[in-house]
Amino acid sequence: MINLRKITEENFIEAFNLKLGAGQDAFVSHPIRSLAQAYVYRNQCQPFGIYNDEEMVGYVMVIYDHDVPEYDIWHMMIGEQHQGKGYGKAALEKVLSYIGSKPFGDSDRVTLTCNKDNKIALTLYRSMGFRETGVAWDDELELSRGLKCPEENL
Ligand SMILES: CC(C)(COP(=O)(O)OP(=O)(O)OC[C@H]1O[C@@H](n2cnc3c(N)ncnc32)[C@H](O)[C@@H]1OP(=O)(O)O)[C@@H](O)C(=O)NCCC(=O)NCCS
Repeated sequence: MINLRKITEENFIEAFNLKLGAGQDAFVSHPIRSLAQAYVYRNQCQPFGIYNDEEMVGYVMVIYDHDVPEYDIWHMMIGEQHQGKGYGKAALEKVLSYIGSKPFGDSDRVTLTCNKDNKIALTLYRSMGFRETGVAWDDELELSRGLKCPEENL
């Protein structure tokens, strides 16, 4: 059963030890780098380990953008040996549920970015109701959805 647990002094080494597959570092920052960013944005973000029961199988960070305002999902990854088992999809559902508790402020808009060549992640995000906003930086596409109503035109 997939669950999210906050990164703490008890589990950050497990996050350090998560491994991406060959070439996947072009698509996502490793949790070590992500946790450095989480320190900088510590008043507006929450990094999580993604657990299958008691085993950390992945990592994801939720960050609140006060300017838009919106919730952003950063650096989601499932360890190489655990990919393709439904964990990413299940984790994304838990992330949306966490955002629904509005931990940092009000907003129903959820946004993430994804490399245009990351076909697996794009398929996952589209299947979960995320749609391209038309905004792009280099190879990174921005995708967004409403919290309760994915089709809501945000
Ligand atoms: C992208 C990622 C998070 C998806 O997590 P996952 O646990 O591997 O994916 P899931 O098993 O939950 O599958 C979710 C959907 O992705 C698609 N998918 C998964 N593996 C796939 C594959 N090998 N080929 C094609 N589509 C695939 C399917 O649409 C699947 O949904 P379905 O089973 O209902 O058809 C994970 O593969 C990963 O960490 N990749 C490397 C890092 C990365 O790219 N992160 C995203 C940054 S934007």
